[in-house]
Amino acid sequence: MRPKVFITRRIPENGIKLLREHFEVEVWEEEHEIPKELFLEKVRDAEALVTMLSERVNKEVFDSAPRLRIVANYAVGYDNIDVEEATKRGIYVTNTPDVLTNATADFAWTLLLATARRLIEADKFVRSGEWKRRGVAWHPLMFLGYDVYGKTIGIVGFGRIGQAIARRAKGFGMRILYNSRTRKPEVEKELGAEFRSLEELLRESDFVVLAVPLTNETYHMINEERLKLMKPTAILVNIARGKVVDTEALVKALKGNCLAGAGLDVFEEEPYYNEELFKLKNVVLAPHIGSATYGAKEGMAELVAKNLIAFKNGEVPPTLVNR
Ligand code: DGY
Repeated sequence: MRPKVFITRRIPENGIKLLREHFEVEVWEEEHEIPKELFLEKVRDAEALVTMLSERVNKEVFDSAPRLRIVANYAVGYDNIDVEEATKRGIYVTNTPDVLTNATADFAWTLLLATARRLIEADKFVRSGEWKRRGVAWHPLMFLGYDVYGKTIGIVGFGRIGQAIARRAKGFGMRILYNSRTRKPEVEKELGAEFRSLEELLRESDFVVLAVPLTNETYHMINEERLKLMKPTAILVNIARGKVVDTEALVKALKGNCLAGAGLDVFEEEPYYNEELFKLKNVVLAPHIGSATYGAKEGMAELVAKNLIAFKNGEVPPTLVNR
């Protein structure tokens, strides 16, 4: 009998097709998340799981899944999985690095530029008919935004995605600062990037982009105190995880003009609603779509399948995260 893999959401067909050649595949077809009780029932006879970042995969799930040997997360981040507990139980955990790096870096830049140049406000102005109503064809002071070219970008978290963001910054003639757990001398040489402490980076940057994983150390790393270090003309972009930023402090900083704007793809809870934040004109918001391109999503599906197939063949999955 072929081992069972349960997939908690419909992923691109290329991945499912590959998996069907090796596994008994069951997919949760609904658009919304699988209710927890049902999830616990579905995992009961599964050897393998494909999970999304919206599922918490913890002790309770492992306790309900006596046959479980591998969890392939359909995301590069895996803060939704208790990897330590999985490792104790001999369960592999894999993620999907590389294949979404460029899509996510592009999206960080989408948010950065859209916020700096007030694209969403301008779009609303045109689309709502307000431009026509005002009857002013062109005005030298209309929708002024912030210069990007030649400015300083500070990237917090300098892994694959952080570095890809930096590569794009080079094309914008920017000074590149970065902060990460370890120095990256190779990349410093390649991109002329300069290492800074988090505090120095926040003080010196015109654009701060967050690209760190969510861990105990990065939870609310951008708090009231640190937001105060930023220039009042600076823009914050978060494509990492919502919980890296203390949202209450961010709203306060934006309302108090301590910060020029924010581009946010991720939120402390998802889905998210925050009237106070959403009322602000100087924020650009997206529903966690950093990796949402056809190419990246298919790449992720293929990598998930490759990890599971390697496991089935008794090999070490290519993108294992257990240590
Ligand atoms: C990830 O992969 O961690 C993204 O946040 C979702 O694609």
